[in-house]
Amino acid sequence: MQLEALPTVQGDYNLKNYEETYKTFSWKDVEKNFSWSETGRVNMAYEAIDRHAESFRKNKVALMYLSDTRNEKYTFYEMKKLTNKAANVLKEKAGVQKGDRVFIFMPRSPELYFATLGAIKLGAIVGPLFEAFMEGAVKDRLEDSKAKVLVTTPDLVGRVPVDQLPALETIFVVGENVGEEGKLLDFLKYFKEASDKLDIEWVGRNDGLILHYTSGSTGKPKGVLHVHNAMIQHYQTGKWVLDLKEDDIYWCTADPGWVTGTSYGIFAPWLNGATNVVVGGRFSPAAWYKTIEQFGVTVWYSAPTSFRMLMGAGNEIVRQYDLSTLRHILSVGEPLNPEVIRWGNEVFGLRIHDTWWMTETGAQLICNYPCMDIKPGSMGKPFPGIKVAIVDDQGNELPPNRMGNLAIKKGWPSMMAAIWNNPQKYESYFFPNGWYVSGDSAYMDEDGYFWFQGRVDDVIMTSGERVGPFEVESKLIEHPAVAEAGVIGKPDPVRGEIIKAFIALRGGYEPSNELKEEIRQFVKKGLAAHAAPREIEFCEKLPKTRSGKIMRRVLKAWELNLPAGDLSTMED
Ligand code: PRX
Repeated sequence: MQLEALPTVQGDYNLKNYEETYKTFSWKDVEKNFSWSETGRVNMAYEAIDRHAESFRKNKVALMYLSDTRNEKYTFYEMKKLTNKAANVLKEKAGVQKGDRVFIFMPRSPELYFATLGAIKLGAIVGPLFEAFMEGAVKDRLEDSKAKVLVTTPDLVGRVPVDQLPALETIFVVGENVGEEGKLLDFLKYFKEASDKLDIEWVGRNDGLILHYTSGSTGKPKGVLHVHNAMIQHYQTGKWVLDLKEDDIYWCTADPGWVTGTSYGIFAPWLNGATNVVVGGRFSPAAWYKTIEQFGVTVWYSAPTSFRMLMGAGNEIVRQYDLSTLRHILSVGEPLNPEVIRWGNEVFGLRIHDTWWMTETGAQLICNYPCMDIKPGSMGKPFPGIKVAIVDDQGNELPPNRMGNLAIKKGWPSMMAAIWNNPQKYESYFFPNGWYVSGDSAYMDEDGYFWFQGRVDDVIMTSGERVGPFEVESKLIEHPAVAEAGVIGKPDPVRGEIIKAFIALRGGYEPSNELKEEIRQFVKKGLAAHAAPREIEFCEKLPKTRSGKIMRRVLKAWELNLPAGDLSTMED
């Protein structure tokens, strides 16, 4: 559907004039906003929390937390002390030092934020794990990163294969009266006693901050390493894209297990001294609208899947809540359908601003700004200081309206610094002439707006979560009935894509619905619920190349009734 452009609505936005700013912008000027530009002492957690605690924001609420059982508020001053306490527990009870990997595997709670920032204050590298991960997924990540410490909860600790992780020295369990045994320690017991004073570990701008594991089309998930220097971009995009101001109540719905939940659920809002809302529990339209009403949310960052689910819940329910505080809405993770923008405009009276970025990019790169016209369906324009182009497979820039690889000129402040343990993989992201290749295909129109067209590789985006087909296939073939498996993303109106698996069975197994369900549960329990195929189709044999590689592209063409393209490499 083509929709008319939505013109900007006049307002007092932090970014006044996109085109002018893009011409004159320099990242160097942004550095002046940080205390280290004068002191030379760098630490993300200091800039995000302590600096405000020592300023006029001391008694301003930093964190508002709500779950079924808790409703709590913490000021920046309290956050400073509580993150110091968490740091002291990690240091004294587990010997955490600069560079150590500290993994956090827990549902959203204030303690998740204390532990994450506490670890960062020690110069440790934080590895967030999504709470839905099951044993196999947890093991892969802790093993690859050689995590020394894990912070988790009584409900999740059973998914940690302690015996198989020799590098893992200490596991803190966050819960009331948890027993201690072997490597397991009671976090809260020590947290209550710990000192709230701490000497922060000062680090270099290019020292490790956070390690997010993410999926590609081949191999196991890889650890994308970000460094403290990323704060430059977190801060400035928070200012100009989220448009955060002193009185805003900001809510990012993403879990810190994913990059949006850290870059824009922790760093960007707190670097800007904003009040940050965190809500635990599951998605429901009523609970979400209630959150906006109850906290008076003004700036709301969510994902197309969620907006589509809210849209599906109907307009009647929207009217039951007072959402009048909302002034700015943003989206990330998948293409934002023009229809969703139209709906948002109707029910909230606001434009939904799409933003494009990736785990690897660390922060927003292509955005719709409040001061700019929105072309529904377009991701927007490059953030100032960011050079974006569409390039061919050799890295040559293409003119407007030609589809090709969406590429970014290397060297933006929040660019990943490494792939953990895998320099070769890191290099593979870049063309020799300095373009970072995103793996997305897109085109740029004559006005400089970028339009997403799809993934170049087989990576699946389901409900905004990135799933590698190889990871799912590997799990599937661990099931005794499965001989071969090929996994694709199948377009879905609500979830963007769903995971569909084509499976050839081993001799002696007959296709049945029970078997489908059993296989689904097998992936769910071994990997993660969101990685389990919603659809399974049994087939005799899978299309493969002569070298034995499953041709997902052919499976996709079958599924969508499209021509399968070049089949010259396919076996008979
Ligand atoms: O395909 C693009 C899609 O999500 C991919 C990155 O996934 P992930 O690393 O999990 O990060 C998601 C949130 C930062 C991209 O390669 N994607 C992200 N934003 C958009 C998008 N696709 C279309 N439009 C977007 N705005």
